[in-house]
Amino acid sequence: MRRFFFLLILVLIVLQLFRPDKSNVSASPSKANINNFVTVPAEIDQLLKTSCYDCHSNNTSYPWYANVQPVGWWLSHHVNEGKNELNFDAFGDYTLRRKYHKLEEIDEMIEQEEMPLTSYTLIHKNAKLSAEQKTQLIAWSEKARKEMEEIYPIDSLKRK
Ligand code: HEC
Repeated sequence: MRRFFFLLILVLIVLQLFRPDKSNVSASPSKANINNFVTVPAEIDQLLKTSCYDCHSNNTSYPWYANVQPVGWWLSHHVNEGKNELNFDAFGDYTLRRKYHKLEEIDEMIEQEEMPLTSYTLIHKNAKLSAEQKTQLIAWSEKARKEMEEIYPIDSLKRK
């Protein structure tokens, strides 16, 4: 038993040597931030920053336990996966179709309560969206799509 614990502790110590890269590669907000492409009212901007930016921007604020492996790997995996799907700091670099589609997905993810991830809101209580905040975000994503529809022909935004 003793030897087992000794081994376990040794393994945990060795694990600490393998640190995932932190994902804050460029400045946030960046030039490609969503704010520069569709209207994001201050209230909405604040909601997105509080509830989504840790996994969907270049500005992740890492908790102290991100330095403890294997927790750090797990967090890093979430952040990388989240940013690959949607990065509010890279939104401007997306094609028109992708921008439009991501706005639809935001609507859907919030409606279905898939975002923000439960594993996140368990710890970040302030990131949990109230019914009113959900309605606000959904209404905003619809408005943002309307805004795009007014500028661009619909077939450049979605396939028929
Ligand atoms: C703890 C990390 C985390 C937080 C916080 C978070 N997300 Fe995500 N998000 C992810 C991950 C991981 C994925 C990719 C896997 C998946 O779809 O479950 C993702 C995927 C998405 C997608 C992509 C769907 C697609 O298929 O195109 C959207 C849209 C999205 N999130 C919106 C949001 C919004 C809006 C918020 C804030 C209200 C938010 N997320 C908060 C981690 C997060």
